[in-house]
Amino acid sequence: MEPGHNHQNLRSKIRKSTLADEGEVLRYLIDLADLSGDDRQAISESAAKLVQEIRDSSDPGLMETFLSEYGLSTEEGIALMCLAEALLRVPDAETIDALIEDKIAPSDWGRHLGHSSSSLVNASTWALLLTGKVLSDEDEGLLGALRGVVKRLGEPVIRTAVSQAMREMGKQFVLGRTITEAIENAQSYEKLGFSYSYDMLGEAARTEEDAKRYHLSYSEAIGAIAKACSSSDIRENPGISVKLSALHPRYEFQQRKRVVDELVPRARSLALLAKSADMGFNIDAEEADRLDLSLDVIEAILADPSLKGWDGFGVVVQAYGPRASYVLDWLYDLAERLDRKIMVRLVKGAYWDTEVKLAQTLGIDGFPVFARKPSTDVSYIANARKLLTMTDRIYPQFATHNAHTVCSILEMADDKSVFEFQRLHGMGETLHSKVLNKNETRCRIYAPVGAHRDLLAYLVRRLLENGANSSFVNQIVDEDVSPQTIAKDPFSVVEQYLDNPSNNKVARPGELFGVDRRNSIGWNLTDPIDMAAIESARQPYLEKFWKAGPLIADGEFRGGNLVKSVNPANKQDLVCEVVEADNADVDAAVTQAGVWSDQTAAERSVILNRAADLYEENFGELFALLAREAGKTLLDCVGELREAVDFLRYYANESVRLEDSEPCGIFTCISPWNFPLAIFTGQISAALA
Ligand code: FAD
Ligand code: 2OP
Repeated sequence: MEPGHNHQNLRSKIRKSTLADEGEVLRYLIDLADLSGDDRQAISESAAKLVQEIRDSSDPGLMETFLSEYGLSTEEGIALMCLAEALLRVPDAETIDALIEDKIAPSDWGRHLGHSSSSLVNASTWALLLTGKVLSDEDEGLLGALRGVVKRLGEPVIRTAVSQAMREMGKQFVLGRTITEAIENAQSYEKLGFSYSYDMLGEAARTEEDAKRYHLSYSEAIGAIAKACSSSDIRENPGISVKLSALHPRYEFQQRKRVVDELVPRARSLALLAKSADMGFNIDAEEADRLDLSLDVIEAILADPSLKGWDGFGVVVQAYGPRASYVLDWLYDLAERLDRKIMVRLVKGAYWDTEVKLAQTLGIDGFPVFARKPSTDVSYIANARKLLTMTDRIYPQFATHNAHTVCSILEMADDKSVFEFQRLHGMGETLHSKVLNKNETRCRIYAPVGAHRDLLAYLVRRLLENGANSSFVNQIVDEDVSPQTIAKDPFSVVEQYLDNPSNNKVARPGELFGVDRRNSIGWNLTDPIDMAAIESARQPYLEKFWKAGPLIADGEFRGGNLVKSVNPANKQDLVCEVVEADNADVDAAVTQAGVWSDQTAAERSVILNRAADLYEENFGELFALLAREAGKTLLDCVGELREAVDFLRYYANESVRLEDSEPCGIFTCISPWNFPLAIFTGQISAALA
């Protein structure tokens, strides 16, 4: 076998599983987890016990308590999340006031009053209730006028108070504004036996300036953390977590060469610093469409000979993606090939909502994440099992706040010293304190560090994650949900839906517009398999010379003007020759157009839908033509074709829906040049429908 052959096979397996058949993957994962009925029962029992103990403890955690009162399933919770998210980036007082009024005034804060066991949450409820009352414009007359005065006078106070409250909520998740402050604040939990991985807030650099700033901030942080590294064993020392998207403004598949040339050296320089300090250096997992590229970056960094002998290089794997177990195989193989020991943090994944929405928008053939929460839980446990068989090369780091997931790991791991647990700062304090004390396991806290302005993306992920009523953190304080329900075995749930693992509350991308109107097919330009399909489909048209004339002339090119069309990016590339319509063609077109009114709406709809299918079937030719004649980038070609197809299917549907209405007559459509396919098709299909 050629060297690296297995490696390539594993990479190809990962790629093929991006949108894998969920049922098939879940069957594989259930086998992989290899838990007997007795094992499952034991796990659920110990998890339910743990849930009860957390509930019985005096402090389930402020954030948990807050979100149980104001989760995403209440209107008020959503209002608060919107405020927390938006206030951070609203620059002027006037807009802040409008935003607060919009979010606070219409909600019913009164019904939360006195609900929570936490006095802090109740105090916040009072404040919100009063603010809402002052801001609401419901009453007229004297009371209304008075309220108006209070409102105007009180605006600066309200603004300050609400902004402060939102900052407090944000602060829950941040350990310190600077790394020095964070290291100091870490001491109280360190005394209890926890260790830390610091995360310098800031991600998705937009400019080179941003990327340089984040690079420096990581370097400085490593320097500061190094002083707290007193052991030669990375497991004992604090570490750092890094987001690759912070280190380059174009960390994306289409810019692979730049990423390898520019991002890799930056990340490698940080890894080298971490190595010198004997600390762990973790590369966070981000959006699913960055996974393939991240593996190239990871391989390029790890292959650097100067990192040999260091066990602190870490990678994060997201269990909510059906690719997870193959990524683990690939990482293990990589460590073997390079003769390294690495760390792998297993998480469920923080971008679920984004992934679902993106897949729907792109119109791809499925989701890169599981559709139902128990599937992710099963995937996590199965992949944890796999990691526990890889400990000769991999130090597993199990990051979760879920009692059932934690208990599964405790049940599966014979040797508790070969892995560590991890939790996020501000979450899972009670659970992990109990687990650490009882089992003498290690636990590391992931601690964001930085200024309020860089918190937004992280904060939104935490609010979505914890505000969802399916999340463990949300359920733990909800006394209406029994410990047994919270600790229910996810395998038995998944086994019931194996034949239909999709989620009926989440429309699959192809069914976004319902069953009657199929969404246009999409192409994911960050997916190597889709890209290869596009390349091969447009290959035959890269040099083709098209000849075209008025459609109405039945293919006969008569005497109209001859126009030559040249590729705007390459004047040597003659793309096509078009015979323009002359007066006779126009007369013929008008006569023949009448035929359309004789068709029924259903017949017209069939024709339009057929045209949509043909557009999709001929995507290679259309992409090539759009690029060569109109200078479109590939992304624009995809957008253009999909818009055209959507128009056709939309009007096909409308013609049936409005069946009884009279045809409006004959239209003249004049399309602009900039969307030669989409707007042309849109105007004409509307008229024909
Ligand atoms: P649970 O409540 O058991 O699980 C919630 C999770 O289930 C959601 O976050 C989601 O992943 C999944 N889920 C929710 N609804 C559905 C659904 N309908 N279908 C399928 N799945 C669903 N995340 C990253 O993405 N990259 C990182 O690098 C990363 N680093 C982390 C580091 C640490 C130390 C920790 C603790 C977390 C990190 N996370 C990271 C965040 C992590 O993904 C979430 O905290 C985690 O998903 C929460 O899972 P849980 O077991 O605590 O809670
Ligand atoms: C996030 O940034 C913790 O890496 C995870 O959401």
